[in-house]
Amino acid sequence: MALTFRAAHEQISPFRRVAMPEGTARACYNEPHLAPIAGLAEAIAAEIPHLNEYGSRSEQAARNIARAHGTDPDRVLLGSGSMDLIRALIGSLCEPGDEVVFSWRTFEGFVDACRVHAAQPVRVPTAGDGSHDIDALLAAITPRTRILLLASPNNPSGRALTREQLARLIDEVPDTVVLALDEAYSEFASSPRAAFVAPMERELMKTPENVVVLRTLSKGAALAGLRVGYLLADPMVVQAVAKMRTQNGVDRLAVAAAEHCFSPDGLAQIEDRVEWIKAERQRIERTLRDRMERAEIDGKPHIDISHSDGNFVWLPVGERAEDLGAHLIEAARINARVYAGEGVRYTVIEEAVNDAFIDAVAEWAMR
Ligand SMILES: Cc1ncc(COP(=O)(O)O)c(C=O)c1O
Repeated sequence: MALTFRAAHEQISPFRRVAMPEGTARACYNEPHLAPIAGLAEAIAAEIPHLNEYGSRSEQAARNIARAHGTDPDRVLLGSGSMDLIRALIGSLCEPGDEVVFSWRTFEGFVDACRVHAAQPVRVPTAGDGSHDIDALLAAITPRTRILLLASPNNPSGRALTREQLARLIDEVPDTVVLALDEAYSEFASSPRAAFVAPMERELMKTPENVVVLRTLSKGAALAGLRVGYLLADPMVVQAVAKMRTQNGVDRLAVAAAEHCFSPDGLAQIEDRVEWIKAERQRIERTLRDRMERAEIDGKPHIDISHSDGNFVWLPVGERAEDLGAHLIEAARINARVYAGEGVRYTVIEEAVNDAFIDAVAEWAMR
């Protein structure tokens, strides 16, 4: 072939949905299995007569989002999902070869986001329980580092930053480095010590210029197919990141959906659904822990059930991950996400499937 592409293209993996046998439960993408909230279809339909027009009601959507976070609309930037904004953020800050530091393991999208801009991903191992190792992350910052990018809660471990860790990062990350906090799963957090920047905007009001928060409607609002997320940051950062995006690049239908989700009625509906998912996750973890304790009393091997703050459960079974993944398909027709050699991540979905998951994991652990 005569055409050649950037070397980094070879390292960027295209997204492909895994082909799943008929009747298999899809518990591998962290998508809540929920119908759109009431009023969403009408809000989207109201935009259809305007599809011939450029631009959208993004100012109103930004105002609704700002109100929900107790901040100003000029600190809000909409994007086509949070990944779109993470890519734009890296593009706005990194020259080729500049470093983006993150924990590993984390969401793989971070690696591709670096590659598209020829930035250098720097992976810092997480602590043994999958939480961020703050000392190691701070020590990994060099003069070439432009961004410290952390998912909190982390994916797949479900570990969230504590208030002390967050305060330390805000304090100690040099002001030439952006501290980017990907809070995609923050709505699902239940750890009393977990802390997030977005709700703190109200308290801090003066979030430092180098702190950027990324949020998404793909998880809590269950709108992964619509592609809408947002960034909260200093207006100067918002403007810089906006320059890296297509103008009017979030379509009218997605903007209308965001406006509705952040109306008082939309927020109340989403909160109820998120509470249900949190309760289900806690029920799964608690039931599995009880069953593992009973197995131990009976002298059978057991597995550690860690605590997750996401809409998923993380089973760090190490070398046995592939075996557990295969058992879930065979015994319960559940497709969970297998991280070979590390663990299995199960997305909380319908109650009956969650029950089948609990039974299948317990059965596998006691074999
Ligand atoms: C930590 C994290 N951030 C971002 C995303 C992507 O979110 P979006 O759909 O808003 O692009 C995901 C998707 O699973 C994720 O796990």
